[in-house]
Order: sequence, then C-alpha cells, then structure tokens
Amino acid sequence: MTTQTYKTVPGHEVTDTMLEEAAKLFSENYGIWGEHSGKAGERVQLSARRLRQQYLPSATDTVVSYYVIVTVDGYLAGNAFACRWKYDGMTVCWVTQLVVHKDYRENGLATGLLTSLRKTTDDIYGIMSSNPAACLAAAKSFGTTIEKISLDFIRKKAYGIMKSSPIPYIRDATLQGTIFQPEDTSGLVSGVNTSFFVDHEEPQKVLQAVRENWQWPLGDLPDGHEYLLVMQAKHRRPSTYI
Ligand SMILES: CC(C)(COP(=O)(O)OP(=O)(O)OC[C@H]1O[C@@H](n2cnc3c(N)ncnc32)[C@H](O)[C@@H]1OP(=O)(O)O)[C@@H](O)C(=O)NCCC(=O)NCCS
Repeated sequence: MTTQTYKTVPGHEVTDTMLEEAAKLFSENYGIWGEHSGKAGERVQLSARRLRQQYLPSATDTVVSYYVIVTVDGYLAGNAFACRWKYDGMTVCWVTQLVVHKDYRENGLATGLLTSLRKTTDDIYGIMSSNPAACLAAAKSFGTTIEKISLDFIRKKAYGIMKSSPIPYIRDATLQGTIFQPEDTSGLVSGVNTSFFVDHEEPQKVLQAVRENWQWPLGDLPDGHEYLLVMQAKHRRPSTYI
C-alpha cells in the first residue's frame, strides 16, 4: 500500500531547497524541446531561480502565490505552482506550472494537486498547457468536465483576466483559435501563442487517447502554442479575501 500526501505552501514560505527539488522534478520529467526551438531533442530545463522569478511573484494585497506538492511514500511525485489575483472584484486562481513524475502518471495525482488548490472563495480558474491531460485534470478538479467547458466564457473573459495577471508570460500570451479569430485555419479552437516550442509528440499521443473518450473541445495544437482553459468556479459566492 502506498501513502499519498498533498501539501500546499504559500509562496513566501517556499524555501530554496523546495525549489531545487521542484527544478529537478521539472527538468527530468516535463518534456523535450521541439523542432523549431533551436534545442530540439534536449530536455526542457528550469532552474530554482527561474521558478521563483517566474512562478512565485511577491505577495501583495491582491496577489498570492502557492506551491503544492504530492509525495508518494515520501518521494516527490508531482507539483504545481499557482497564483491568485483579483480581477474585476473576482478572485482568479491560475495554475502556472504542473508536472507529475513519469513513473506516477495516470494515477490521479495531477487531479489531486489541482483539487488541493481549490478554495470556496475562487471565482475563476485558468491554465495554459500543451498537454490535454492537464486540461482534463483542471476541468475535473475545478468542478466540471472538459465537455462542459464554456468556450463562450473563454472568448468573452480570457483577455481581461489574462491582461490583469501579475505573471508576465500569462499577460503577454497572444490569444489564438477560432473562438477568438473565426478565420483561424490552424485547427486550434481555444489557445495561446506563447512561442514555447516544446515537442508535441507526447501531448499528441495523449490527445489521441483523450479523443477516444471525450468530445475534445479545444482543437488541434500548432507548434509554439498551448491550449487555453478559463472557467468559472462552481460554488461562487462574493469574496473579499484571496
Ligand atoms: C499532464 C500531467 C501533469 C498529468 O498528470 P497525471 O497525474 O498523469 O494526471 P491524472 O492522472 O490526474 O489524469 C488527468 C486526466 O487525464 C487523463 N490522462 C492522463 N494521462 C493520459 C494519457 N497518457 N492518455 C490519456 N489520458 C490521460 C486521465 O485519465 C485523467 O482523466 P480522467 O479523470 O477522465 O480519468 C503529466 O502527464 C505531466 O507531468 N506531463 C508532462 C508535463 C506537462 O505537460 N504538464 C502540463 C503543463 S501545465
């Protein structure tokens, strides 16, 4: 029998040692660079310093970041970074990073990590990811299913929500797909152009498998792009705290 333990740490309590472990997990398990990246075939790497700079913005009255880990029998098996900020009187909770160790995938750990992030005061959840499994995990954790995602909500609200983000790569992402530009012929329905040229072979295999079970609503993914999922929280109530 294995023991799974989830732990959430507020950004200001995240130590350099935690980030070194997070950087190792990411660099060994996230994925490899794709054809147009200039580093094709090499592992995508992240340092502890970049994790802090890019994913743990300093807390303010309206911004708080979080680091969530799952250990299996004491071993770091997966983690997620998230940031909450205010937009138009609402609390946005955005998953900024998510990775599960290769040996522990398809056991519900990503879903468990995102479920641990959920708060009753959240109004909106968001994630950008090239991996359909991350989108499935987010939809389920935040109270819906991928087939019930409102593309209309994403079309109307994503721009304002993302422009208000304290995280530069979210703020600077260019919205792409037929919900934003009906004339788009790339096959993408809801996504962002982040010029993140990670290899899509693995996400492509996941997509094929996912399409056997689900009506996948976000379309096909061109190189350098990620899927975009923005959804309303299920149990909404007026919130003053983040
Ligand atoms: C994406 C990732 C985090 C998913 O982690 P995981 O722990 O395997 O995810 P879960 O077990 O919670 O699965 C979530 C859903 O995706 C499905 N899924 C996961 N892997 C799948 C696969 N290879 N093929 C088909 N479906 C898959 C699961 O069945 C589950 O759906 P369900 O709830 O309908 O059963 C993991 O694959 C990973 O770290 N990939 C590399 C990094 C990455 O792409 N991160 C996302 C960037 S934000």
